[in-house]
Amino acid sequence: MEIITHDIIIIGAGLAGQMAALAASQSSDTAIVSKVHPIRSHSGAAQGGINASFGNVSDDDWEKHAFDTAKGSDYLADQDAVEILCKNITSRIVEIDHFGAIFDRMPDGRLAQRPFGGGSFPRTCYAGDATGHEMLNTLYEQLIKNNVRVYEEWLTTSLMVENNEYKGVLAINLKTGETAYFRSKAVIVATGGCGRVFERTTNSHQSTGDGISMAYRAGAQVCDMEFVQFHPTTLVGTNILISEAARGEGGFLMNSENKRFMESYAPSAKELAPRDIVVRSIQTEIEKGRGISGGEFVWLDLTSLGSEKLMEKLPQVYKLAKDFANVDAAQDCIPVQSAQHYTMGGIRTNNNCESSIKGLLACGECACVSVHGANRLGGNSLAETLVFGKIAGERALEYIRKKGTPGIQREAAEKEEERINHLFRSGDESVPELRKELQNIMWERAGIFRNESDSREALKAVKTLKKRYSNAGVKDSCRIFNTDLMQAIELGFLLDNAELIAQGALLRRESRGSHFRTDFPQRDDKNWLTHTIIAFKDGKPQVTFEPVRITLFKPEARKY
Ligand code: FUM
Repeated sequence: MEIITHDIIIIGAGLAGQMAALAASQSSDTAIVSKVHPIRSHSGAAQGGINASFGNVSDDDWEKHAFDTAKGSDYLADQDAVEILCKNITSRIVEIDHFGAIFDRMPDGRLAQRPFGGGSFPRTCYAGDATGHEMLNTLYEQLIKNNVRVYEEWLTTSLMVENNEYKGVLAINLKTGETAYFRSKAVIVATGGCGRVFERTTNSHQSTGDGISMAYRAGAQVCDMEFVQFHPTTLVGTNILISEAARGEGGFLMNSENKRFMESYAPSAKELAPRDIVVRSIQTEIEKGRGISGGEFVWLDLTSLGSEKLMEKLPQVYKLAKDFANVDAAQDCIPVQSAQHYTMGGIRTNNNCESSIKGLLACGECACVSVHGANRLGGNSLAETLVFGKIAGERALEYIRKKGTPGIQREAAEKEEERINHLFRSGDESVPELRKELQNIMWERAGIFRNESDSREALKAVKTLKKRYSNAGVKDSCRIFNTDLMQAIELGFLLDNAELIAQGALLRRESRGSHFRTDFPQRDDKNWLTHTIIAFKDGKPQVTFEPVRITLFKPEARKY
């Protein structure tokens, strides 16, 4: 097996991973290992924008941003982490602006800011409706400029950990099928979310929760996985994201009675209430028979914006509606429905992005620091990638100063290679079938509205699927770009993520943010102002609870 050595390895090349790599590479030999080319990372799908309290349109400041974030999180976010996010994001945006990212601007040259859900002010900076794409390309130029080594199209399969200390990474070069052992003094996991656990999702096919699962298997604490964000407006059929920016720019939602129904659920914020509230409102309309043609969708009406504004502010939304639903959004309403969008839980970290395993750091969507708590505000995920990506890179640099290059974990690496080779034997179970079953059950039983029996059933079904997975085989024996093998490994990751989500959903007997239990419809601060922590110890998941850090704002009723 080839041995590759660097000071710091970053797994994942989305915005958080790239930002971490830029910081770490200033004074270390840093490399990124990514299963896709960096420009194809899922961060590129982020559309509507990035929140920062520049106050260019109104009188804003970091504390107001922090308040909206904490309230939006249904008070589950750790407020000292929120403070770091909101104080630092303006400098990070200036930095990426100076790198060359082209944000929309006002006539006087200052950054334009649009309204987004749950924000008291227009706070969301943007590059049309392709903000993630713009930022990703800009950061990638910096990676090239700084000679950061990228192992692209390498699938990481496991993290080597001994005595609760990180030692290395095992990865497959997808181009050859060869396995290599990467050793480094520290690793930063930045692999994104696990949206593909669900049948309906805006996430790309690569969002399979790899880092969360690998860290969990290695013994790291995983936090708040029951909090899954569903996005209100995705295109019917494909579930491609139709950005919240569409509502920020003035679009509204209508039911089959041509009623702007959000007025009844959030009289003040209406369509710009936080996502959890808008999603439940849409679902309630549908369940009450007011979906369009009795179906599972509502209308998003952008016709009042006019073609010119649509083309200037929302060109991608316009084109997606045209290409994938044959709707001219300047003339007709777009059929939209809710779908999974974001993983609020993840690898538990402190405010320096350090996990419970020494030398293992995490940032971005796969991490739970936690700035989003029970419900993330749109525009805060891009903010998190820049702020905590940089912190992770800088912290890893500090950590490795005291470290020598670790030895090779030969036995563990050979065992992992054996596990992968084992997938090549012809098992009875089909990977695509198992994945489909998993996605269906999670959508049906662990989706927007949950209850005790559904959560129990979801957990039981996932455990059964896990057993069946041990008898799954890969039919294609070729080693070169074997996507069958890749999907088989990814299914293992998805199953772990699903189990953590279902377990958390079953345990949490209250409703908070995105987690709505119809049998416990109220938020219960007395018993549940806590993070759910699950760690794999002695061959089984062990659950503990950790109090939320409330430093700035006392929890109060959430009204919009
Ligand atoms: O709707 C959107 O543009 C999504 C933004 C986000 O998830 O932050």
